[in-house]
Amino acid sequence: MNNPQRYLITAALPYANGPSHIGHMAGAYLPADIYVRYLRRRKRDVVFICGSDEHGAAITIQAKKENKTPKEIVDKYHAIIKKTFEDFAISFDIYHRTSEPIHHETSQEFFLKLYENNIFEEKENEQYYDEQFNQFLADRYITGTCPVCANPNAYGDQCERCGTSLSPTDLINPISTLSNKAPIKRKTKHWYLPLNKFEEWLKDWIIDGNGRSEEWKKNVMGQCASWLNEGLHPRAITRDLDWGVKVPLPDAEGKVLYVWMDAPIGYISATKQWAIDNNRDWKPYWQHADTKLLHFIGKDNIVFHCLIFPCILKSHGDYILPTNVPANEFMNLEGEKISTSRNWNIQLHEYLNEFPGKEDVMRYVLASNFPETKDSEFTWKDFQAKNNNELVAILGNFMNRVLVLTHKYCDGKIPAENESLLNENYIIEYKKNIRRIINEEYIPAIENYRFRDGMAAMMDVVRLGNKLLTDYEPWKLIKTDVEKTTGVLRICLESMIDIAILCEPYLPFTAKKIFNVLNVKNTNYDFEFCQQRLSTENKIGEAVYLFEKIDDAVIHKKLEELEIIHNRRIEQQNINTPVETKIYTSVKSTIQFDEFAKLDLRTGIIIEAEKIPKTDKLLKLKVDIGFEQRTILSGIAQHFTPSELINKKVTVVVNLAPRIMKGIESNGMILMAEDAKGKLYFIQAEGLKDGGMTVS
Ligand code: MF3
Ligand code: ZN
Repeated sequence: MNNPQRYLITAALPYANGPSHIGHMAGAYLPADIYVRYLRRRKRDVVFICGSDEHGAAITIQAKKENKTPKEIVDKYHAIIKKTFEDFAISFDIYHRTSEPIHHETSQEFFLKLYENNIFEEKENEQYYDEQFNQFLADRYITGTCPVCANPNAYGDQCERCGTSLSPTDLINPISTLSNKAPIKRKTKHWYLPLNKFEEWLKDWIIDGNGRSEEWKKNVMGQCASWLNEGLHPRAITRDLDWGVKVPLPDAEGKVLYVWMDAPIGYISATKQWAIDNNRDWKPYWQHADTKLLHFIGKDNIVFHCLIFPCILKSHGDYILPTNVPANEFMNLEGEKISTSRNWNIQLHEYLNEFPGKEDVMRYVLASNFPETKDSEFTWKDFQAKNNNELVAILGNFMNRVLVLTHKYCDGKIPAENESLLNENYIIEYKKNIRRIINEEYIPAIENYRFRDGMAAMMDVVRLGNKLLTDYEPWKLIKTDVEKTTGVLRICLESMIDIAILCEPYLPFTAKKIFNVLNVKNTNYDFEFCQQRLSTENKIGEAVYLFEKIDDAVIHKKLEELEIIHNRRIEQQNINTPVETKIYTSVKSTIQFDEFAKLDLRTGIIIEAEKIPKTDKLLKLKVDIGFEQRTILSGIAQHFTPSELINKKVTVVVNLAPRIMKGIESNGMILMAEDAKGKLYFIQAEGLKDGGMTVS
């Protein structure tokens, strides 16, 4: 899209079930904020939308955990999350809530419009139901044994050990987490979005790009392509739950919209509320083709924003589609996946309690590590290094030196320009260089969602400033040429304004400080302003330090805290073991001999093993079972390296129905024993030399 008339920027609506952490910030909110601040500075018409996602099992499960009502939960976390965003100056035009009536109305209207357009399929099927609690069970309310890796604590939607996505009926020995009893199956009716019917259209739009007006990121395209290649299936967009947006049909008592149906519509209802509050029209932002609509999200949201929501928008008929979905991958913490439930995270409100006034330090460190193309990593050592070696030593140092020298040699006033200096080649080149960095590096990087590069370009401008000081040495020059010295300082002061403008999208607090100390009243400049002239009337403020060093002791403390969490987790796993072992070893219900006899078990030998790209857990194995060689996928990549598996003797269920995972067909299952600490052992036949013995 060459010249969008307006921009609608959304950032994923966070679930109001817990405080935000650095992973959220680095994934969606900070990149979106940088982009929006950049656009505003360029005087584009932009609306920046976000809000709390307050429905779905994520909320009801947290309510159960805290022994509160869902409403209490969303009120509590909505307030915390909203405040955190404000504290970090994430500049939403509105931070809305999906529990607001305007959202319920908007989602119901949407549903009805699609219903009238005959988009949905109605289907009855059997779902798990808890008889004691008299309710159908959301996927997350059911646990059981993973059919792939035999993890006894897999959830109804996913096994967290091997990463396989599951549906509750895949689980072996399902248990309701409400009553701790086996659920029964009961018939229920739901409305489905037949994604399969949209497949061709989606391929055309996303893969062939006929409808897309921008390049999409590789990580986003990759995920879309893999979903489309595996084939899409109808997806239920209603649920049996008493928390959410009611299904607006007469025969739908006790049913609500699936949270992923209503949440993205939350972007629309939030825009409506913004329009009401600001006396504006929301429709052009969602319905005119000259709007650029962008969704900033993390990678776990890609399928919903690139495939499902576009189908919903298209089915409605009146809406535009996203121009781009610049999703980020994940940010890890000190070598491990961030996890709220395991307390392996840095909560942003806690960070600010401990590091007050260091909002921009966190913004800087996160932006320098955005997981833009692949997963990235936050470490406290890196946090310290970026603060000390970049913010303090480069940016803060330049500012401070220029201010100190201006006070010393110019009585704290902006000095006049020195014409002959301006004609020196060095200065001509210096100014050209800055302009080139802005036009050829900074702006294109941000326009193309390469925010790390944009920030690096900004720091290059600061480096040029520091180099200018070192090359001209005003502290020596003052002895021979006062006018030239003050001329140099004037150029540095002008560069500081450039830097303030360039860093504002990234470091808004710092930009404000620079403008303040230079006494610049109108700070609303576009990037064109860079290298323009300062008024000699201006008196500058005191020489401040923008940043301060962070000591080793502080970092050690943070690392120790993580270590304690880590150790406690391992201890807890051990303490929990008896319970887990109990679940794991509790004797399953009796089966008859002929049921057992249906299992065909054989001994085998692993002859090949390799990692499957883009999965953490799965290995692709070739197993010799005597009469043939089988490809078997096994969720054990975190326990064994491929090379140590070669020639391992194993026992295989050879008549298990094939399963396709990650596009590869798995034919059989390898039996494993697991000890209380989660360590895995192969079931091996003693003395086995070749595969192929039967086990019974
Ligand atoms: N609440 C979801 C999450 O945290 C994101 C919802 S994005 C929306 O993963 F589009 F549905 F709003
Ligand atoms: Zn598993």
